[in-house]
Amino acid sequence: MPCTVICGGFWGDEGKGKIISYLALKDKTDFCVRTGSVNAAHTIWYQGKRYALHMVPGGFVNEKCRLLIAAGANVHVDQFLKEVEETNAKNRIGVDSQASIIEEKHSTQDKTSAHLKGLGTTGWGVGPAIEERVRRTVKLAKDIPELRPYLADVAREIGAALAKHKKVLLEGTQGLLLSLFHGTYPYVTGRDTSASAICSEAGVGPTRVDEVLLVLKSFMTRVGTGPLPGEISKEEAKKRGWFETAAGTGRDRRAAPFDFDLAKRAVMINGATQIALTKLDCVYAECKGARTYEKVPAKAKQFVRKVEEETGARVAFIGTGPDALDLVDRRK
Ligand code: IMP
Ligand code: MG
Repeated sequence: MPCTVICGGFWGDEGKGKIISYLALKDKTDFCVRTGSVNAAHTIWYQGKRYALHMVPGGFVNEKCRLLIAAGANVHVDQFLKEVEETNAKNRIGVDSQASIIEEKHSTQDKTSAHLKGLGTTGWGVGPAIEERVRRTVKLAKDIPELRPYLADVAREIGAALAKHKKVLLEGTQGLLLSLFHGTYPYVTGRDTSASAICSEAGVGPTRVDEVLLVLKSFMTRVGTGPLPGEISKEEAKKRGWFETAAGTGRDRRAAPFDFDLAKRAVMINGATQIALTKLDCVYAECKGARTYEKVPAKAKQFVRKVEEETGARVAFIGTGPDALDLVDRRK
């Protein structure tokens, strides 16, 4: 699978970070491109350390992987430099010259603008920075002296890489239901989060993509406001082991059972060819730590089959625990 797009199916926090890091190591990914913005945090456990990455692509765990930030991304310079240091990525990371820059004023506007009140944004300033991009007044990466050593032409690099059959991962953020176009508007983020938008932000044409891997959690969560079908109480979520707090903002995540109709729609709009079903052990405790499909109990297998039947896409990966290797890879 030379070019794979990874996207979220619900409201983000499906566990994309873990799947990306697994693939980067297992498939020896050559290039990992981060799209989206600083608002999203991808959690990755690597060598006993936990990373919550807002900027650096999850493929950093593979030291040979070239890391890139897309032209359609929104870069927070201080956060970027901090994470580059933390992940030791200085010599292999690039930022597209045309990526937008998020400034302090955008964060202030995010927290104080009347039109954003009640949406429960993360406060990073992504919406206001995108507003400025549309007005053609936002600063770009090429305008920032600290970013000069990192400037890249991502579309060109990836185009050349794909021509040489290199392995490329296009890393999406959030989930389809936070998409500006396909999500629960107005309770959405400031951009489209679907697979097509991920390609567009990176500058990769749709015919260049081989696989679209949709990440779905075995139950649903949402932070911030807006509808969540089937929502259960915080007490109930705690009882079921579904209570989580946000990796980025620390806010409580609301929870609900898996919704097959929403999953089916996410497979359709993203054109998913594969599904990664994460946190199956939070719904079926008996499969905790399973690394082969034989170790997954019958009841959990029934759920996996139902996901495949209802959505029409194959469940290629199953997450069974927090460790990067607590995973069933069904591709073999
Ligand atoms: P914004 O993207 O900061 O403008 O926030 C808009 C909505 O998207 C809010 O409901 C946020 O909680 C949600 N959101 C943004 N980024 C993430 C994420 O990475 N995970 C989950 N929700 C997010
Ligand atoms: Mg997250």
